[in-house]
Amino acid sequence: MYAAAVIVAWAVAGSGGVTVACILVAAGTGERLGVGRPKALVEVGGTPIVRRAAEAVAASGVVQHLVVAAPTWLGNHVGRLCALPAFDGRDQLVVVSGGLTRQQSVEGALTGTPAEADVVLVHDAARCFAPPALIAQVVAAVRAGAYAVVPAVPVVDTLVEVDEPGSTVVGTPDRSRLRAVQTPQGFRRQVLVDAHLAATRRGDQDATDDAGLVRRLGVKVHVIHGADEAFKITTPQDLERAEALLAAGRLR
Ligand code: C5P
Repeated sequence: MYAAAVIVAWAVAGSGGVTVACILVAAGTGERLGVGRPKALVEVGGTPIVRRAAEAVAASGVVQHLVVAAPTWLGNHVGRLCALPAFDGRDQLVVVSGGLTRQQSVEGALTGTPAEADVVLVHDAARCFAPPALIAQVVAAVRAGAYAVVPAVPVVDTLVEVDEPGSTVVGTPDRSRLRAVQTPQGFRRQVLVDAHLAATRRGDQDATDDAGLVRRLGVKVHVIHGADEAFKITTPQDLERAEALLAAGRLR
C-alpha cells in the first residue's frame, strides 16, 4: 500500500528530471573530540570539516540544494563556510538550527529541503572525506529505483552482542553478514519524511541511522559498497589519522 503510493509519485517526478537535496548534519558538539568547540568547525589540513564536506557534495555534481544543520549560534558562520559556487542560486543553500540529537537535526533540516526535491541525501559533516564519486553513486542508486540506499563496508573486527550491563556476551553474529554503514545515505524524499514522522510518533529522539528508521516502515534498504575515506571523525585519534592521511596525499 505504502510502496504503491510512493512508486506513483516517483513515476511523475521522474518524467521531469530529478532534483537532489543534501542534508548536511553539522550541529554536533564534538564532545568526544575534546577540542571545546563544535566539531564542524575543527580544521583538518587548515580547512574546517563542514567546508570540506560541502566541497565534496558540490564536487559530486549531482546535488542542487544543500541544507546544513548547524549549531544555532553559528548559523551565519557555517553559512559563509558552505557558500560555494555550486550552491549560489536562489534557495540552493539553506542553514537551519540543529537539534539536541542527530535525529532532531535531520528532522529540522528536512523541513528546509525544497518540496520539489525527489531525492534527499543525509550526510554527516564528520565524514568530510567521503569521496564525490561515492555521493554520486548513492544518488545513482536511488535514481535507478531504490527507495533507500546506504553505503557500507565489511567489518574487520568480530562484533559481539552483550547484555544490558555490558558484562556478558549474549551473541556473536556471523561477521560475514555484518557491515558498517556510512553516509551519505540516499532516500526518495517522501520515504524519509514518513520515516521521521513515524519515529517522532513512537517517541524516538536519538536514532543515529536514517536507514534504520526507513527500514522500520517496512521499506527495503539497498546497500552499495562504501569507501574507506568516508570514515567518521569522532575522536582525537580520528583527527590525527585524517591529518596524517592528508599529509601523505592519501585524502583529497
Ligand atoms: O556525534 P556523531 O559524530 O555521531 O554525529 C554524527 C553527525 O551528526 C555529525 O556530523 C554531527 O555534527 C551531527 N549531529 C548533529 N546534531 C546533533 C548531533 C550530531 O547535526 N545534535
